Amino acid sequence: MKLGIVDMELASANYVVRLDTLAKATGVDPNKYRFGLRQEAFSIPALDEDAVTLGATAAARVLERAGQEGIRTLIFATESGVDQSKSAGMFVHSLLGLSTAVRVIETKQACYAGTAALQLALGLVSRNPSERVLVVASDIARYAVASAGEPTQGAGAVAMIIGADPALLEIEPVSGIWSAHIDDFWRPNDLSTPLVDGERSMDAYLGAFTGAWEDYRARGGFELAEIDFFVHHQPFTKMAIKGHRRLVEHTGKNVEESRVEPSLNYTPYLGNCYTASLYIGLLSLLHFKRELSGKRIGCYSYGSGAEGEFFTGVVQPGYERFLHPNIAAQEIAGRTELSFEEYRDLHVAHERGSAVNYSNSRKTRAPYRFVGLCDGARVYADSTLPIVTGTWNVHEGH
Ligand code: COA
Repeated sequence: MKLGIVDMELASANYVVRLDTLAKATGVDPNKYRFGLRQEAFSIPALDEDAVTLGATAAARVLERAGQEGIRTLIFATESGVDQSKSAGMFVHSLLGLSTAVRVIETKQACYAGTAALQLALGLVSRNPSERVLVVASDIARYAVASAGEPTQGAGAVAMIIGADPALLEIEPVSGIWSAHIDDFWRPNDLSTPLVDGERSMDAYLGAFTGAWEDYRARGGFELAEIDFFVHHQPFTKMAIKGHRRLVEHTGKNVEESRVEPSLNYTPYLGNCYTASLYIGLLSLLHFKRELSGKRIGCYSYGSGAEGEFFTGVVQPGYERFLHPNIAAQEIAGRTELSFEEYRDLHVAHERGSAVNYSNSRKTRAPYRFVGLCDGARVYADSTLPIVTGTWNVHEGH
């Protein structure tokens, strides 16, 4: 029986900052970002957006198409968690009106957690093929201002329905794993931006790649020549190319970069989307490369700390009918551009503790929004409902 991705969709944030704007304001050569990182812009959320609202927006899109029937589990993958105890998925569960007979959890292992969620979902579905799992990978990559990571910021979510007889991609059973404790990137509980050793993070990404590849091959995985296209985790676009070059060097096989390039059309404009990044790359490949039916795609997932996994999927006949590239195009084109000053002010404004009550005015154009904090509890709302001043216009927020 085939198991895999039945449907998938992305969402991004309300605002965009062009890297030319950042470069000009900070005295950096714009070519460093354009060619050195291969990045053009990044998404940044409005104050009434967070990983929950991005994830809920992406999830609502797939549920509208695929329905809620058979969904018994919601797995929310993120490293931008909004609570130390409660799964961000529980807010999504409420916003989307999912059944009480749906288990909800959150997974975490830096950018790798989306793939952990996918594998857990496949396990659940293989145990009961009549069930489907809603996987939501959603993140806001927020780095300290004036840090090396600042131009690689971003925000985005991908929601996927995992089930039997997948319309888009059958995930094949063999996968290769590589894990080791490495301090390359992490975020202590009381910090809103990560601590990063950039050089080490790139080394760890590449080392985990060859390690995961060796494990994949040792478990009977396909040879490079049998894999038609590749999607590699994209903390910034150039990193996926570096990863691919390392794989070529490691195996001694010549695999043209044209087999990676179709996966690299969205990240330059969205920025790093952490757990969603690999799956945004997968959507890029499915949207931009034609006649993929029957083609095998190799996927490399990486999460700092550090964990890598390599797995493959086969594109299903008729998959084109289930794609909606117009939504991705609208997410990118529909954002409001910020000036440098507006961006830096917003970056500071996002720095908010949990000790005070506050409410956010409506800024997002998305269907769900983060209303604010009420006695420490996060309140979310359906944006289409009117705001009543002085009261919480709550859609079962807490
Ligand atoms: N024109 C064109 N290219 C230029 C340039 C210019 N004027 N100036 C620099 N570059 C190139 C560099 O040669 C380098 O390219 P290369 O790696 O292919 O040699 C690239 O731009 C980056 O510049 P560099 O100075 O090496 O690094 P940085 O200080 O900008 O930091 C990261 C880069 C990735 C370490 C930083 O963005 C970061 O910490 N990101 C967050 C962590 C991360 O994403 N890690 C990846 C693995 S998860």
